[in-house]
Amino acid sequence: MPTKLLYFSKAYQQTATAKVIQVLRDGPQTGIILDQTLFYPQGGGQPADQGSIIAELGNLAVSHVSYNGGEVLHKGKLVGEVKEGETVTLEVFWPLRYQHMQQHTAGHIVDQAVKNVLPESKSIDGNHGISKRMYIEFSTEVSAVAVSKIQTAVNEIVESAVPITSEMVSYEELVRRQIKLPFDLPKNKELRIVQIGKYPAMPDGGTQLSGTGESWPITIVGVDLKESSWRVIYSLTAPGKTAQLEVPEPEKTKEKAEKATLSLSKLRERIADLKAQLSFEQTTGEERKTKYLGKKGYFNELAQVMKNLEAADRKEAGQLLNDVKTYLEKQLQRHLQEQAQNQVAAWVDLSIPGVKPVVGHMHPVSQAMEEITQIFERIGFTRVRYPEVDWDHYVFEALNMPPNHPARDEWETFFVEAPIDKKLGKVVLTTHTSNGQVHEMERLNSTPPIRMVNIGRCYRRQQDATHTQMFHQFEGLVVDKGINIQHLKGTLDYFAQEFYGPGTKSRIRPFHFQFTEPSFEVDFSCHICGGTGVLNPEGNHPAKAYWSKNSNEKQPEAETKCKFCKSGWHEVGGAGMVHPNVLKAGGIDPEVYTGFAFGWGIERTYTLKPGLNIDDIRLIYGGDLRFLEQF
Ligand code: DAH
Repeated sequence: MPTKLLYFSKAYQQTATAKVIQVLRDGPQTGIILDQTLFYPQGGGQPADQGSIIAELGNLAVSHVSYNGGEVLHKGKLVGEVKEGETVTLEVFWPLRYQHMQQHTAGHIVDQAVKNVLPESKSIDGNHGISKRMYIEFSTEVSAVAVSKIQTAVNEIVESAVPITSEMVSYEELVRRQIKLPFDLPKNKELRIVQIGKYPAMPDGGTQLSGTGESWPITIVGVDLKESSWRVIYSLTAPGKTAQLEVPEPEKTKEKAEKATLSLSKLRERIADLKAQLSFEQTTGEERKTKYLGKKGYFNELAQVMKNLEAADRKEAGQLLNDVKTYLEKQLQRHLQEQAQNQVAAWVDLSIPGVKPVVGHMHPVSQAMEEITQIFERIGFTRVRYPEVDWDHYVFEALNMPPNHPARDEWETFFVEAPIDKKLGKVVLTTHTSNGQVHEMERLNSTPPIRMVNIGRCYRRQQDATHTQMFHQFEGLVVDKGINIQHLKGTLDYFAQEFYGPGTKSRIRPFHFQFTEPSFEVDFSCHICGGTGVLNPEGNHPAKAYWSKNSNEKQPEAETKCKFCKSGWHEVGGAGMVHPNVLKAGGIDPEVYTGFAFGWGIERTYTLKPGLNIDDIRLIYGGDLRFLEQF
């Protein structure tokens, strides 16, 4: 059923309703055929309209419109769904359409102007915006000297502000009125004719302004000789606009002239167009074969291009053509197969619920780092970061470990192959976050108070159930006047309670580190046995609460050693009062200032949290989502 063309009589109508006759889908594009339309299909030199077709549950962004044996096909991207039989709303993108009307009417005015100047001239073609240059083409000579005259004639028509009218007439009526036909038109149908003022009417299918007075200023750009025809080229100036209206690139026309000078890039464009076109192809197998692969078919026509190409481009063009041929053959084969099986093309069911993207979360180590940062920030520490690839100086020497000192052996160090600095020594992967101590003193110009927590990555040559080559540590450093061990112990107790929960205690035991004096090892009480080392202690002990809340197992009745800690305590790291040599290395006078420091591994600290009981630290870096998702 032919589509009723509403724009024929109502060029200024911007919205209308219509019934959906057919919906065609393939790939990303959808095509819609309606019982009537406002959308102008590309033709007669006028580009296609754009706009929207709005259905109850969907919207087609119309990007191209074409005329196909009476039916108008609206193509574009569909969001949602359009059902056959439903009533939809059409909205033409008006600024673009209005520009097209200006361009088209200007063409008619130019045509008339040329005929006014050269009464014998015959126009044979026109382009009102499909390709970049707009022109009217004449089969009779339009000499270049006439340009200024044509311009004057154009201005006169515009200034006379005459109406532009259209009507539908039979062929007989055309003959009777002696209306010249530029080319053969069907004689059995009514034809539409357009008339500017009292000038002779002419057949036209486009959308026109209601009068010449509405026209934007038209400029005659020049006259081009084309083989045996003349093109009068014109341009338009939109009022109040210096820049051109942003118009999406119109679909390429398959002009004869273009064919003759097809370049490699045009060839690529044509192939892309062809592929798009094929997705809407409605011909059946045999017709298709002739149309695309037949002797006078599309492929052979395209292959003609080879003759006109530069030698250098031929190889690539040959390849492109080969690919197209294979593509066409495959398409045809597929089509024939489908036809044979009488298959209905698969539809995309837009009502199927989508797949929800997986939402991630922070890695348990990052979570622990966040929590530790917050705990220390609450008592006035500043979170800092120092390099994980650092100088020997900061990692060892400034921490009171001169080169070749045996204490260094404890840190199984990775050295980086890099030039050695005279003062700072070798480059190493930092083995502990204690490297941040002297960095921080320098950052603060050796001026306490210092309260830092340095969290970072560390590296050591080690790998087993409780050690990984890369791990994280955090380091606390406090330097000020009058800092003593009590401040250290108080800070450790505070951390124990905040991180592991109320009731957790800290314990310090004498130890040795080069960078602290005195030095300690730091333990936290075990939350399972409540620091007693046995699983069935007497009395109202915190361990009771743990067993009632956290464990599926029963609390053993007979006296049993705590399997988790074995002693009531977990050793986590080191601490101590900052060694005077370290303060000196950071430019701080140890006679005036004292400080404490502590540091240990994040992974270990974290896996001791109540309820976790992770006995293999390597799991944390295994990347196994079944494990990680639990945190
Ligand atoms: N840096 C030491 C290590 O990696 C831990 C440590 C011990 C840090 C004592 C300190 C400290 O700040 O005072 O084993």
